[in-house]
Amino acid sequence: MDYQTILHLFLTISFVIGRSSQQISIEPIAGPYTLSEGPYWDKENNVLYFVDIPKQNIYCFNPETKHITHTHLSLGPVGVAVPKAGKPNTFIAGSGTKLVQVLWDPKSDNLNPTVKVLATVDVDRNGTRFNDGKVDPAGRFWAGTMGEKNGVITNGQGTLYRFDNNGTPTKILSPVSISNGLTWNHNNDTFYYIDSPTREIVSYNYNNITGDISNKCTVFSLEENNIPGAPDGMTIDKADNLWIAIYNGGRVIQVEPKSGKLLRTVNLPAAEITSVAFGGSNFDVLYVTSASQSLTEEQLKEQPYAGYVFAVHGLGVSGEEMLASKMN
Ligand SMILES: *[C@@H]1O[C@H](CO)[C@@H](O)[C@H](O)[C@H]1NC(C)=O
Ligand SMILES: *[C@@H]1O[C@H](CO)[C@@H](O)[C@H](O)[C@H]1NC(C)=O
Ligand SMILES: *[C@@H]1O[C@H](CO)[C@@H](O)[C@H](O)[C@H]1NC(C)=O
Repeated sequence: MDYQTILHLFLTISFVIGRSSQQISIEPIAGPYTLSEGPYWDKENNVLYFVDIPKQNIYCFNPETKHITHTHLSLGPVGVAVPKAGKPNTFIAGSGTKLVQVLWDPKSDNLNPTVKVLATVDVDRNGTRFNDGKVDPAGRFWAGTMGEKNGVITNGQGTLYRFDNNGTPTKILSPVSISNGLTWNHNNDTFYYIDSPTREIVSYNYNNITGDISNKCTVFSLEENNIPGAPDGMTIDKADNLWIAIYNGGRVIQVEPKSGKLLRTVNLPAAEITSVAFGGSNFDVLYVTSASQSLTEEQLKEQPYAGYVFAVHGLGVSGEEMLASKMN
């Protein structure tokens, strides 16, 4: 048996949902990476994109062929990359403090793609970079920044931006520390957000026409629920429950935002869990990214799958299509 088969056997976990018991399996699909983040399922091409932030790479994984390709951006750490709507082989990405358009055909590697700078953010400060980003229900791209230079994180230096389709940034929340976890509900009237060091998931009313948010409420607190680590990337399932990656918590949690109830915990074989996205042709596979950064030699030995991207099968839930950016 190869290592993946062995791991698959070890990780096939039985657990109980209500009265019916269900089998999930956790498949390591790619890795190890330093800081894999930003999973995005491309429904047109049936592939998964993700980034390795400090390596400044965007990856494309094809579940059918298991083939992985990548491209490299030279403008700084790559916090996020999403496809551009209606434009094949075109991505909108955050690299350093630059919002860029990248031309890359993911069928093969390209270490020198054509990159166009659309905007520069955080022009009034040094030592920040783009972190997580998403496309809202109206097709607008949102992405936030965080204070990080040479691996040292400084709190209170980041900002969450919303971009007009011509690339103009608008400050939505400032200051924030580590901007993460953006997702919207299916009614398109609520925005969920995470500033990781707060250890909270918060909600805002969201106006789909103007793109404005208001009325912050705390949905879930890791502190109050005795969960270690910090909330990182987040997605939402068809039933409008949140799935949240827990960095330094070795797990993904499912939370019902209306009640603030913890519905489920999925443990993963890596401590630094960074983000989640539903994918697969039925959107019933949960793709989970992780990191291996800042682990000691000993921790790396204990966590041979640290930094892998995982596919979690058999959860019995599904998500929906992730939107592409309508940036011009
Ligand atoms: C950023 O760093 C550069 C080079 O060290 C310096 O010239 C500039 O004044 C700094 N800008 C801010 C806003 O701190
Ligand atoms: C949100 O806005 C987009 C673009 O303006 C529109 O296509 C979509 O139907 C809107 N959805 C809702 C619920 O208002
Ligand atoms: C929310 O927005 C998405 C994307 O624009 C759209 O497909 C969906 O129909 C909208 N939902 C409602 C309830 O209008």
